[in-house]
Amino acid sequence: MHSSITTRKKSSDHGMGKLLNYHKHANGIEGTTTHASFQITVYTNHIFRIHISSEEKQDTNPYSVIAHPIEVNFHVEENDERVIISTSALVLEIDKASTRFTFLTTDGQTINEDDTFGASWIGEQVTTYKKLQEGERFIGLGEKTGPLDRRGHGYQHWNTDFFGYPVDADPLYCSTPFYMGIHNQLSYGIFLDNSHKTHFNFGASNRRFSSFSADSGDMDYYFIHHAEVKDIISSYSHLTGRMELPPLWSIGYQQCRYSYYPDKEVLNVAQNFRDREIPADVIVLDIHYMDNYKIFSWDKEKFSNPQQILQKLRDMGFHVVVMCDPGIKIEEGYPSYEEAKDKNLFLKYPDGSLYEGQVWPGWCHFPDFTKEETRTWWKEQFAAYTDLEIDGFWNDMNEIATWGQKLPDLIRFHFEGEEATARKGRNIYGFLMAKSTFEGSKSLLNNKRPFVLTRAGFSGIQRYAAVWTGDNTASDEHMLLGARLVNSMGLTGIPFAGYDVGGFVGNASEKLFARWIQIGAFSPFFRGHSNINTRDAEPWAFGEEVEEISRNYIQLRYRLLPYIYSLFYEATQSGLPLSRSLAIDYTHDSKIYEENYHNQYLFGPAILVAPVESTKDFTKVYFPEGHWYHFFSDEQVKGAQEKIIECPIDILPLYVKASSIIPMAQSVQYNTNTLGNTLELHVYYGKSFNSFEYYEDDGETYNYQDENFCRRTIQFSPENQELKIAEQNGIYPSQFTTIKLFLHGFPDQSFQVNGNRMELKEEQYSFIKPVSNFDPIYTEPNTVPEIKALKSIEFTNTTEAINIQWSK
Ligand code: NOJ
Repeated sequence: MHSSITTRKKSSDHGMGKLLNYHKHANGIEGTTTHASFQITVYTNHIFRIHISSEEKQDTNPYSVIAHPIEVNFHVEENDERVIISTSALVLEIDKASTRFTFLTTDGQTINEDDTFGASWIGEQVTTYKKLQEGERFIGLGEKTGPLDRRGHGYQHWNTDFFGYPVDADPLYCSTPFYMGIHNQLSYGIFLDNSHKTHFNFGASNRRFSSFSADSGDMDYYFIHHAEVKDIISSYSHLTGRMELPPLWSIGYQQCRYSYYPDKEVLNVAQNFRDREIPADVIVLDIHYMDNYKIFSWDKEKFSNPQQILQKLRDMGFHVVVMCDPGIKIEEGYPSYEEAKDKNLFLKYPDGSLYEGQVWPGWCHFPDFTKEETRTWWKEQFAAYTDLEIDGFWNDMNEIATWGQKLPDLIRFHFEGEEATARKGRNIYGFLMAKSTFEGSKSLLNNKRPFVLTRAGFSGIQRYAAVWTGDNTASDEHMLLGARLVNSMGLTGIPFAGYDVGGFVGNASEKLFARWIQIGAFSPFFRGHSNINTRDAEPWAFGEEVEEISRNYIQLRYRLLPYIYSLFYEATQSGLPLSRSLAIDYTHDSKIYEENYHNQYLFGPAILVAPVESTKDFTKVYFPEGHWYHFFSDEQVKGAQEKIIECPIDILPLYVKASSIIPMAQSVQYNTNTLGNTLELHVYYGKSFNSFEYYEDDGETYNYQDENFCRRTIQFSPENQELKIAEQNGIYPSQFTTIKLFLHGFPDQSFQVNGNRMELKEEQYSFIKPVSNFDPIYTEPNTVPEIKALKSIEFTNTTEAINIQWSK
């Protein structure tokens, strides 16, 4: 029955050979060479797909790319040596003698060109070799350790469960074979769309080429060129899709541990948050809520009445996220096992028997998510959770992780009837599990948005789930690595990413936890988590001063939600991440790639975050060009300089870019539903024009698809001496009835709102509270920097345009 599986004949080592013939069609050209066939498809003016196959039957990944070529004007010309395909933005020259590809700008600069090895095969493995360009840097590749600039390094994509991984481990859990190259003021992106194990070499152990290879399947890659990195990310996410708006509660603080049980303990943790006035929205139930780790079941002793405890948590304003692993326990009488077996939904060996692997529940079978029927079945199972009004789901162990960590290569995947082995199926498994979980729960939740978190994934995973960086370790190095991993995922189309705050493996020190929660507050996904048998790791478990620090930064996170939620909206529109590696805005500034600074990022367009170890009271920060304000004191710093700054344990180095606009809630009580009705609009005076897209909706339903949102453009124009809050788009009534505009660094002038002169208020302003002075953290009494004499004006919010002007 499995005889139909395509076994690729062992071909000898070869390149493409000569271009023999080609013809033009509606979206590009296709042709043959001595050793291969190829198709070049113009997806947009900026994106060409290069698909090369050495077999008769093409071997592609059906899951990641959802875009279709759009009709654009492209030209094909030919001379003695070359075939040339061009659009208004990109030129591709194909050398006829060797079928090598060179990508050029429309004015003839080389962006990227094949090395003489071009695309070539060693047995089944296919590689494209690219000439290393002068000064070329490489960024991206998603969840990869190592430096921001990956030049001189090599990586693999092979989804891997790696408990307590070292800070230079590779590969990890999630594979996104997309990177960007930068040189000579030019930039481009390459997405290798092949789910087999892939290899990337950016001039590692050689100084001649960069290369990307797949162990099998076709050489199928997308070449993207724009002048700016942010547009390349946007094109990549045009191809592989963008995230949907997350439920607002999922971007509040989430508290997890492996595991909170029994039910009383869960309630106790929840109550502590409320009693201690530390905002939180989520309690996560890790594997111990289940009966013998059987998915879709409850442990009758630890959770005797799930309905009741879930209701209690809801009454306290908490959502619950539950663990859903893929392994289904082999146990007669267990309905999920019996059903999936009867329906023939599990992964198999080539002889048709079911694959068995060991994981938490013991020996398990694994749903074959490359089969439509399995996905449908899986989706239906989620009624077991949604009937209990659970709306958060955590997909873990989906690399697939099994004890022994050697998922056999020969396992057969259905692949929509095409059949393939684990060599092709492994990397895509977690993606499809998350897809089924997301689509299933979404269809069951009656117009409510689900939240899905996954560990494994593949390009396009952002359409279905947030991704976290797995089993990190409680160390300063890991804390900094986490920031870099999230930034790198952001460069790779995954805006919703995070790490275990506090570190999963091992025990965080007081200081480490304090620092980590500060940095985590500036991460898209914000969750504290720790391993079984580690010390308590809730924000209050590290003594009073750490609790105060945690409260400060978690509250600050909540107050920033109007800004953060607007950024998530932006991510749904453009694919741009929230945590922005400085390589996005300062691509050609060599300083930002230095290891001293490569952990720094912009959280949204406005806030520069400089993650720093818990052991340091001073650190060096690089301020890119422009002008910056210290977030807590408003002290101004000129850009394009490195500076040693103070960073006592309660103060994370945060700076705001001049001309920025940051909308914030004035207050938070205890969760994302309690942000009050005053919007603080913090505007930082600067010389350049700036614009911010404010977005708000009910935060939980899909009603925004029917205009039920409030979107307005806010523009700061120093030249015209005005700030304009444009008329509202959409019909959602903003929860904020009052706007308080804070004027940071503005010249002393008089202000008018819609033509009426306004009184300026002046106050001493502080974003966080001073922390009490206890041992062991402080040796000196601590003072939080405050902004002296910050001016503000307050006015009623309306849906109409609001114009604020200033003059002498
Ligand atoms: C592995 C996950 O990475 C970790 O976060 C989780 O706590 C354990 N599995 C137990 O479910």
